[in-house]
Amino acid sequence: MNYRHAFHAGNFADVFKHLLLSRILVYMTQKDAPMRYLDTHAGVGRYDLAGEEAQRTLEWRGGVGAIPLRGLPGPLADLLAPWLAALGERDEQGRPAAYPGSPALAQYLLRSQDKLILCELHPKDFRALRETMGRDRRMKCIEIDGYMALKAYVPPPERRGLVVVDPPFESVDEFERMAQAFLDAWRKWPTGVYALWHPVKDERATDAFYGDLRAAGVEKILRLELSLAPPTAEGRLVGTGLAVINPPHVLAQEARVLLPWLASRMGGPQARARVEDVA
Ligand SMILES: C[S@@+](CC[C@H](N)C(=O)[O-])C[C@H]1O[C@@H](n2cnc3c(N)ncnc32)[C@H](O)[C@@H]1O
Repeated sequence: MNYRHAFHAGNFADVFKHLLLSRILVYMTQKDAPMRYLDTHAGVGRYDLAGEEAQRTLEWRGGVGAIPLRGLPGPLADLLAPWLAALGERDEQGRPAAYPGSPALAQYLLRSQDKLILCELHPKDFRALRETMGRDRRMKCIEIDGYMALKAYVPPPERRGLVVVDPPFESVDEFERMAQAFLDAWRKWPTGVYALWHPVKDERATDAFYGDLRAAGVEKILRLELSLAPPTAEGRLVGTGLAVINPPHVLAQEARVLLPWLASRMGGPQARARVEDVA
């Protein structure tokens, strides 16, 4: 486990993922019934963008730093508002005091009746996660393999919830492992909402992943992608994706507004957004 998210926090892939997660959470918290949020690969929760790791790559500048501080047009302002509220004050460079990762975003958007389970396997990051997230009676941080957690914690007692699977994609078989772990969970709990993050580097590998989900009988799949440029030969991350299973019905429509705008803010003329119901 060499991957450290602190080097990449707030980059274009984080903005894409966190904005979409904020829209899912906003929708799911409209009903009073409690829900559960399960984050299988939680990271450290919140990131210091002035810290050594983020300063070394400066990736955040092309991500959260590219989101304007003011003057967003009406529909975009509404769609971004919950995520921007979770970010809090930003300095003139667009840098928040601490960038909220998926756990901190969920902690901010969930209500008193909801629960969070945050899983992280790296011992140092797990300690940091517990520290940055503070005390919250709704929340449990668990040092566990995320795929084991997925098996162990679904279905949740509330029978409503969002599962976020955001592995580091360090190993060559990560797509297969994620598909398998997801399918095992989905068979136990087919009505849950699942958001599975993946890189967009090799279209054949991504198509095969979605093909595996469809072949297993998963029906409601939304394929969301943002590519800043065509894939590079050296495999640098220039494209990011999220597979949302059982998506809120408004998500595709919102993504059709959000993603092209993100492409124009964070990418050049070759940037592309993709919003597709996988059928
Ligand atoms: C992409 S980062 C997560 C970022 C986080 N979800 C966010 O959006 O803020 C992936 C995290 O998974 C952790 N990790 C790696 N292998 C894991 C495993 N098998 N189980 C749980 N966590 C793992 C890494 O230490 C890293 O912190």
